[in-house]
Amino acid sequence: MSGNGTETTAADITRAAVASFDGCPDPRLRELMQALERHLHAFALEVSLTQDEWLAGIGALTDTGHITDDRRQEFILWSDSLGLSMLVDAIAHDLPAGATESTVLGPFYVAGSPLRRYGESMVVEGGAGMPAWVHGRVLDVAGVPIAEAELDVWQNGADMLYAVQRPEAPEDHLRGRYRSREDGSFAFVAVRPVPYPIPDDGPVGKMLAATGRHPWRPAHIHMIVRAPGHRTVTTHIFDSASDYLESDTVFAVKPSLVRAFDERSADDPERPAQIEGDWVSVQVDIVLAPGRDEAELVDPGRTA
Ligand code: BEZ
Ligand code: FE
Repeated sequence: MSGNGTETTAADITRAAVASFDGCPDPRLRELMQALERHLHAFALEVSLTQDEWLAGIGALTDTGHITDDRRQEFILWSDSLGLSMLVDAIAHDLPAGATESTVLGPFYVAGSPLRRYGESMVVEGGAGMPAWVHGRVLDVAGVPIAEAELDVWQNGADMLYAVQRPEAPEDHLRGRYRSREDGSFAFVAVRPVPYPIPDDGPVGKMLAATGRHPWRPAHIHMIVRAPGHRTVTTHIFDSASDYLESDTVFAVKPSLVRAFDERSADDPERPAQIEGDWVSVQVDIVLAPGRDEAELVDPGRTA
């Protein structure tokens, strides 16, 4: 060490920072903090982080704190846009083969959607887009239908926005909770979703612009599906005709979640009575893994 003829090295600094947590009484917290120290220091060393770059990072974090409130969660948006949310989700969900894969929750989920009947429309406001008949069954991994599963659904409209992003929108527009019937079947009227940019007027948007990345997500409908005795799944249905399936800015596309939205005409004999004009239909079965109901974990309190 300095003072007796030996200079302090980068390794000395890292060692001291890691060792400062040796006495942490919680072993998991100790593991997390010591690994964080090691990786953070390794990152700075690998890129030879300059003082200006370090300060720019502090500035981005400061701006992130300033823009975050109970309606906007810019820290989670960083996690989403860096792929960390999907990685943590993958670590948490080691699902059996055939179970519907999970994907990111996103900031536009609002708990407490109205309960709607089989086949009911969740389109409350006109001009929301092309009507979509979304139907399928909820099954277990052995293919046995699950009755009374709850499908909590939300999506954006043709204006690219979720109702929660528009203060003037009817609260229950493009969202609803549906129950599967005795044979596991469910159906509802939605609209064909459209691609949209994640909120890009804050520090995450600046990062995307500075690095030449786009802010777009491919068209999708969100669902949380819950049933007693089964693991809750938070997932999407992606439109196979959408742009950005190969470059989702939050890395949430999984091929198993992509479905064809079939174009149907107004005179199609299968047109449900509650739909007028041309429409699309999409069929999707939701397969739930056995296990604990993790419903209490799906809403970390994020809103738009
Ligand atoms: C969404 O799909 O609603 C979403 C997910 C992550 C970040 C932004 C939006
Ligand atoms: Fe979304």
